[in-house]
Amino acid sequence: MIYGATGYTGRLVVAEAVEAGVWPVLAGRDARKLGALADSFSRGAGGESRSAPLETRAFGLDEAARIEAALRDIDVVLHCAGPFSRTALPMFEACLRAGTHYVDITGEIAVCEALAARDAEAREAGIMVLPAAGFDVVPSDCLIADLAARHPGGRILRLGLLVRSGASRGTMKTALEGVNAMRIRRDGRVMRVAAGSLRHEFDFGRGPAAALVTPLADVSTAWWSTGIENIEAYYRAGRRLPRLMRLSRWFGWLLAGRTAQALLGRWIDRGPEGPSGAQRRTSEGILVAEIEDSQGRRASARMRVPDPYGFTAKTLVAVGVRVRNGNFKAGYQTPSSAYGADFVRHFDGVEWEVL
Ligand SMILES: NC(=O)c1ccc[n+]([C@@H]2O[C@H](COP(=O)([O-])OP(=O)(O)OC[C@H]3O[C@@H](n4cnc5c(N)ncnc54)[C@H](OP(=O)(O)O)[C@@H]3O)[C@@H](O)[C@H]2O)c1
Repeated sequence: MIYGATGYTGRLVVAEAVEAGVWPVLAGRDARKLGALADSFSRGAGGESRSAPLETRAFGLDEAARIEAALRDIDVVLHCAGPFSRTALPMFEACLRAGTHYVDITGEIAVCEALAARDAEAREAGIMVLPAAGFDVVPSDCLIADLAARHPGGRILRLGLLVRSGASRGTMKTALEGVNAMRIRRDGRVMRVAAGSLRHEFDFGRGPAAALVTPLADVSTAWWSTGIENIEAYYRAGRRLPRLMRLSRWFGWLLAGRTAQALLGRWIDRGPEGPSGAQRRTSEGILVAEIEDSQGRRASARMRVPDPYGFTAKTLVAVGVRVRNGNFKAGYQTPSSAYGADFVRHFDGVEWEVL
């Protein structure tokens, strides 16, 4: 099942699944949008010649019994409806009761932490819980797990991310929610830091470039994958998001208020739904992981991933297919804990350099 199938990313995931020969159940809260999406694929938009339409199931996430009933015969749900701060736990709890594996594409630290805290329950239910199974965490987690294995005893881990791509509305809204909530991991604990208070230089391929502290999900997932207790994530990027980040340094408290969030949410709704196909073809994400030991010695590695949104669809479907084929580990997982640091190598266009 693909839940949130009618969103910008959800539609990419459906197209990817159909292309991979999977015939998913399309789900979300709006029956009309789901019907239109299913029709578009039945007409062959996914390049498939099947005559049976894709099945749709419309249900919201506010009635536990309805979610559970909709999941009863589902092996794995690929959850694409965000911001996940509102949608992850109701879906996860229904998955626990229905015995359905849970995979999502969140980028939110608090969501990963909340799901990690339910590891024992997931093990007991025999389900895998794998949040953040898209960009940036599939590449970053593999990059980080590999670097940490090459340099045992790392004390501080830093991740730098540069994205040359437009952002989807869902990404913008999720970033807006986190605008006043910068987080790092210090001595094992997730703690808050002021927006703009930490900068770090990374070589994204054109010499050192400064990036600003950002609450990427790696603050949670990289700890689970490596056990390193000090983790910082930084971001350097294109147009609207960094503008928001610069503003947040001075006005974060104001932007986090309800009125400002509602106004900015409407501003995001007036913008494009997400990058166009042409924009996606030239888009890329560059990740640099740096590990520092107690003597201050540093080692780093860099990865380039083409088309971050398309990449998310590919990795999510790849995980879904593996799970459906019985290739999963029960309990809370990260991409590298479930499938190893080489998982990312299965996807075309990934360039990986040990620096
Ligand atoms: N980690 C990654 O690789 C990655 C990549 C892309 C996106 N994302 C994340 O994925 C999420 C979606 O992004 P997007 O660009 O696809 O957004 P989008 O185009 O706005 O789509 C959001 C989808 O979620 C549904 N939805 C939202 N809130 C819901 C709720 N409370 N209950 C049920 N359904 C709900 C929407 O349904 P309606 O149409 O009915 O409103 C829509 O189908 C965001 O959180 C974004 O940050 C992550």
